[in-house]
Amino acid sequence: MLPLVHNQIRQPLSAPLLRGADHFIGEEKPNQMDHRTDALNYDQTGKISLDHVYNEPDPKAYFSTLRKLGYRVPEEAKPVFQRLLSAKREATGEDKAKLVDVGCSYGVNAALLKHGMSLEDLYRLYGSDAPDDHGMMLTRDQGLFTGAVDDALSVVGVDAAERAIAYAVDAGVLDAGVATNLEKRQPTSTDVEAVENADMIISTGCVGYVTRTSLERLVETSLENNVWMANFVLRMFDYEPVEQMMAERGYVTEKLAGAVFPQRRFASEQERQRVLDNVSDRGISPDGLESTGWYFAELHVSRPANDGTRLPLETLLAA
Ligand SMILES: C[S@@+](CC[C@H](N)C(=O)[O-])C[C@H]1O[C@@H](n2cnc3c(N)ncnc32)[C@H](O)[C@@H]1O
Repeated sequence: MLPLVHNQIRQPLSAPLLRGADHFIGEEKPNQMDHRTDALNYDQTGKISLDHVYNEPDPKAYFSTLRKLGYRVPEEAKPVFQRLLSAKREATGEDKAKLVDVGCSYGVNAALLKHGMSLEDLYRLYGSDAPDDHGMMLTRDQGLFTGAVDDALSVVGVDAAERAIAYAVDAGVLDAGVATNLEKRQPTSTDVEAVENADMIISTGCVGYVTRTSLERLVETSLENNVWMANFVLRMFDYEPVEQMMAERGYVTEKLAGAVFPQRRFASEQERQRVLDNVSDRGISPDGLESTGWYFAELHVSRPANDGTRLPLETLLAA
């Protein structure tokens, strides 16, 4: 099957939403890569390090940096998460639902799913419309995030960046937040209280930083609730260890076939080269996708194998 791209976020998730990568790439400005590779730091996977913007007291540096890189995967993910959430609600028969967003940063997915914002809104709010004064920004945001579009939805964020979590909770973007690194430590009893009995665990732009270890620790807190898990994962990462961990718990993991989701542009030639190598090393071709200068993610969804309401993922998302 030809690679397809989910990129028309305001349309229903059906056939028209699946389009060729060429079209998507053609819509964007030419790649603005930074050729001063010496100015950038790289992590062990070859991605540029963005650590300097992950844990600031306010979201300005995060959104201005990610906007420049064309970061868009939360917007791509939004209609998919909405569709999954409504299927989960149908399965539980309850409107009330709890999401745990791993690597939530400043509550990005909560802002989109619970508060009805777009990523573009966030880029504007923390870019051209951002007050200089921290207190003024927080007060503005507390006003903006009081009413929720989906007020039966509660979103708990988990992130290693404690200042990002603190801002998102103080501003009312998140219902609760857990600042921890579950790669390195077990959740405390307070952490468990915050994340347990989730209906769905989600992530965008985070697997890679987090692995099977964190996801296992989170899933363990919500198995009695038949929690679902939906992660958008860069093609260069091997998801098999997570699939395996979920299978040990009686879960089936499906990757949405024939769909890829643009995440962001490469920041430099060095990053591009490393990613092309990583993708090729996994035995997949970067042609027409990463070769165009973009990271692409795939959607992996895990649900209990014995869930009587389980529709194949493609059917569920096409409904
Ligand atoms: C690219 S950002 C994605 C943020 C958000 N999900 C989005 O799509 O805009 C990656 C996030 O992962 C977080 N992170 C990195 N390592 C982590 C870890 N071990 N546990 C939890 N979060 C982590 C970072 O602090 C950062 O907020």
